[in-house]
Formats: sequence, C-alpha cells, structure tokens
Amino acid sequence: MHAYLLDQPDHALSAEVLRSEGILYWQLPVEPSEYAGPVANICQDRGYVQMDEIFLGENTPDLAALCTKFFVEHLHTDEEIRFVVAGSGIFDLRDVHDRWMRVHVVPGDLIIVPAQKYHRFTLDAQQTITCKRLFQDTRGWVAEPRAGQ
Ligand SMILES: [Fe+2]
Repeated sequence: MHAYLLDQPDHALSAEVLRSEGILYWQLPVEPSEYAGPVANICQDRGYVQMDEIFLGENTPDLAALCTKFFVEHLHTDEEIRFVVAGSGIFDLRDVHDRWMRVHVVPGDLIIVPAQKYHRFTLDAQQTITCKRLFQDTRGWVAEPRAGQ
C-alpha cells in the first residue's frame, strides 16, 4: 500500500493517518495458505459473513464502462472491504477536509472503506486486479453517488 494526498504526491499518508480517517488497513501474506487464517480472524472480529472474488482485466466484458462507473464518487451505507490477491488498483477517498487521499493497493493489502465515506476506484497501469470482497450483509450494499457527480 502506498497512500498520499492526490494533489501533493510527496505527502505520504501512513496507515495511522488512514486509520484516523476511519480507513482500516492490514498487510497480509499473498499466499492463500498463509492469508486464510488472518482473513478468517478479521471476518470473525468484524462480523463479515460472506466473501466472493471480483476480477477486472482485459477479458472483462465492458471493462471501460465498469471502470467509468467505479470512478464516479460515491459512498455506501455499509463498509466496503477489499483484499487484493493479484494485480493492483487505486482507491481515492475523501479526507475530513474533502481532499482526495489516493491509496494504491497491491497483493496482500486489505482495506476497509468505512460506511458513509466518499470514494472512487480505478485500475492502474497494470489494468488488472483480483480482490476478495467481504460483506456484513450483501442486501442493500449499493453505491450512492455524490450529489452533482
Ligand atoms: Fe464503493
């Protein structure tokens, strides 16, 4: 994970700064046999009951349209939990001053975007990512675009 203010790329943001913004982060192993235990512990601690996997890459139908959709600023009424297992990507999240914080995630990164936090997602130059998605409850987990977006 590498995080920084989008308009000040030299201003790196630590996991502690992200935590102060309500964004939780873990660096986990990239081998399934090694991350299974820690992921299970996080699920148990935080009440995540469902997990699936999402892949974005050159073989994804309508990849450009999907990326356009994910890059619209939005929030959710539940947490958004992503564990990167391959590829890489970019989360932009609004800080308390409404500035963009850019978080570049790579395999082994588990990030929790808190409920009610405006954010957006895009691929980086690799143009592919595979993430585990964890859910407290998939019902009602919808994106709510920011007004005027
Ligand atoms: Fe989202």
